Amino acid sequence: MNATAKEVAIVTGGAKGIGFGIAQGLARDGKRIALFDLDRAALDEAATRLSAEGADVIALPVDVTDSASVNHAVEAVTQRFQRIDVLVNNAGIVRDKRITRMSDDDWDAVIDVNLKSQFLCCRAVLTHMSAAKYGRIVNISSRAWLGGAGQTNYSAAKGGVVSLTRSLALEWAKDGVTVNAVAPGIVDTPLFQAFDNELQEKLKKSVPVQRIGTPDDIAEAVRFFARPEASYITGQTLYVCGGRSLASPSV
Ligand SMILES: NC(=O)c1ccc[n+]([C@@H]2O[C@H](COP(=O)([O-])OP(=O)(O)OC[C@H]3O[C@@H](n4cnc5c(N)ncnc54)[C@H](O)[C@@H]3O)[C@@H](O)[C@H]2O)c1
Repeated sequence: MNATAKEVAIVTGGAKGIGFGIAQGLARDGKRIALFDLDRAALDEAATRLSAEGADVIALPVDVTDSASVNHAVEAVTQRFQRIDVLVNNAGIVRDKRITRMSDDDWDAVIDVNLKSQFLCCRAVLTHMSAAKYGRIVNISSRAWLGGAGQTNYSAAKGGVVSLTRSLALEWAKDGVTVNAVAPGIVDTPLFQAFDNELQEKLKKSVPVQRIGTPDDIAEAVRFFARPEASYITGQTLYVCGGRSLASPSV
């Protein structure tokens, strides 16, 4: 590995929303960026924006629930950049329903995109990170892992992310690889903007700091864990939710 070359970070689900904010933040830290996403049009737009901001970026159409697709993309990153320093497992979906209305597919899809994808991506990059004796993995969980009515699939998947993070941290601690998780609260995304004004206001007031988060808020925490200097922190889950993890306020 060429120690003077710039670090390389993979961000899954990096074409939009929080993932794009994380990619922008890591690029500002001088990292070269690999975006993995299903949405080709959004990938092109994101890569164009990051390049315009001065980043060295590769955008790869990947289904993070498919091991062949993930392995192929990771190989493409190593061919282009010869190293992988950071993996941010951010891709996620929701399909909220009461359990009696939740189909097998609602369960499987949410577990696959939010949890299985993290297993597949970690497995693929750890071969490279263990050879380099260095790596930073940051898994995106959610405050909702604490529990959410109508979110059994999502909450179980995000709780699984916390457990995956803790187990992998122990497994790879001797190899220079740290594994941490970030658990966002409500973040300003198209989903939130689609709510009517009254619900938006109620949700904002349910956050102790009286505002909802931005992708930059989440990116700050990811950048912290992704730094070489964060070598003594592993297996941790950091809430970035304006204090909402401290209680479950009613909306
Ligand atoms: N938005 C919030 O309020 C919030 C709160 C807590 C946690 N989170 C978590 O943050 C992460 C990002 O959420 P977001 O709000 O930015 O979502 P988003 O829907 O805006 O972006 C998710 C991205 O993941 C991609 N994606 C989905 N399935 C994929 C697949 N199979 N393969 C590859 N890419 C895929 C989508 O194309 C999209 O670009 C998720 O893990 C989510 O659970 C979000």
